[in-house]
Amino acid sequence: MEQLTSSQLREKWKSFWMSKNHAYLPEASLIADKESTALFNVAGMQQLIPYLAGKEHPLGHRLFNIQKCVRTVDIDEVGDTFHLTFFDMMGNWSLWEYFKEEAIQWSYEFLVNELWFDSRKLAVTVFEGNSDAPRDEVAAAAWQKAGIPAERISFLPEKHNWWSPGPVWPCGPDTEIFYWVWNSEFPPEGSNVKDDEDNWMEIWNNVFMEFYRDEKWVFTKLSQHNVDTGMWFERMCRVLQNKASIYETDLFAPFISLLEKTTNLSYTWNERKFRIVADHLRTVFMLINDWLTPSNVGAGYVLRMIIRRCYYNLLLLRKLNESELSSFVNDSFISFKWLRDFDEERIKKVLLNEISQFEKTIHKWEWILEDLLKNSKKLSWEQIFMLYDTYGFPLEITKEIAAERGVELDLEWYQKALEDAKEKSRQSTKAMFQKSADWSKYLEGIPATEFVWYDNLNFEWSKLLKEIEADDGQRVLIFDKTPFYPEMWWQNWDKWEIILDDGRCVHIINVQKVAWVILHFVG
Ligand code: ALA
Repeated sequence: MEQLTSSQLREKWKSFWMSKNHAYLPEASLIADKESTALFNVAGMQQLIPYLAGKEHPLGHRLFNIQKCVRTVDIDEVGDTFHLTFFDMMGNWSLWEYFKEEAIQWSYEFLVNELWFDSRKLAVTVFEGNSDAPRDEVAAAAWQKAGIPAERISFLPEKHNWWSPGPVWPCGPDTEIFYWVWNSEFPPEGSNVKDDEDNWMEIWNNVFMEFYRDEKWVFTKLSQHNVDTGMWFERMCRVLQNKASIYETDLFAPFISLLEKTTNLSYTWNERKFRIVADHLRTVFMLINDWLTPSNVGAGYVLRMIIRRCYYNLLLLRKLNESELSSFVNDSFISFKWLRDFDEERIKKVLLNEISQFEKTIHKWEWILEDLLKNSKKLSWEQIFMLYDTYGFPLEITKEIAAERGVELDLEWYQKALEDAKEKSRQSTKAMFQKSADWSKYLEGIPATEFVWYDNLNFEWSKLLKEIEADDGQRVLIFDKTPFYPEMWWQNWDKWEIILDDGRCVHIINVQKVAWVILHFVG
């Protein structure tokens, strides 16, 4: 395989798709527009939704680009070898043009003929079929024709091989391409993603978008078939540069050395913290560069949390004084120079201002902790969970403060509680959508919920239109207007407390959009 730098990979991508008569699609802003319920641009296809559904695109039927994206759904995984909150996605699209055979043939050609990937280290997954769409024998046959042996092809269910940007919109079966990342040079005979998932890393997804789920949850076949692909740029760099993680590639290496110099610590002994600072700082630069500012709601809130996590992890490595911090930010711009043109002065101002506010919060946290530890030298898992869930203490912070004071932590149960909470929210979302048809009976006569952008956050004039006690006991509130984001677009929903006109204080535990109405689930 050729060793390529990140810029060489970009160039290869461009020239390959241009040679296949694809037009370059300018990349969209990271911040979703105000009409959308999305917070960020989460995939290359986001700006193409109307075109995937049939509208004529001014640039034609074959497109490609490299799109900046932010997804926060895996934020807790950041620190491992490949999860990121900001990433670049390389995509190519066919709008009512070529379909499965050509897309698969070209994917293989790009990897094996252009980049010299060893085909023995590739495996793919395809859709196993369900009541909506058949088992994807066409894709499997196209892979075999291209050069992937049958033993490396796994048929997997909807959970793995069906893609949609959210609960509504265009969707379809997909086929995902994986690269062997375990430390043996080649995968053993018979290894594939289904049986050996941890040793294969997904690098590219080809979605065959020929269906549409509308706002009333009606599923139809589109009159046109489309291809929507997304390749993980940073993961590709890791493979092409033969590194153990994306943080050792040329995308991150200058920053990691800067951080070693600044903290006087070694990356090898502090991998996780170094990686969190690196990933989060990059995301923060990119989001502020696209005109987002930290706030208490919506996308601004996510930005605030990312800045806090980033800064706290830096603090755990070393406390910098004001001038050290300022030069660290300047040098970080240089080490991430390849990313985009930064509006350095503005980004720095917003970031340092937010950090100085956060310093005050840290004092408040210490005070809360002081109180909890008045009578004991141990924190129970319930207390650790409360610190995380209610007061926003990342576990690292609790751990660090506890270590400093010789406090014992009941972490085993805490991890379990965290997993349970995540699983519960995953299940409730899944269950919610399975039952979405049932919801329509509650929604008759209810007008579309007006989504209020966070600048206008003011509950006083939100009118409660309906309070539902569903058959299964779930309680749901519907308002005429809401500033709560429903769970869509691969991001989490808002969680908050609200006071109703009759004085009741209710906890919103989940927010979903069904058809045109935003549902607030109360706990
Ligand atoms: N839109 C598809 C994805 O993001 C390609 O995986």
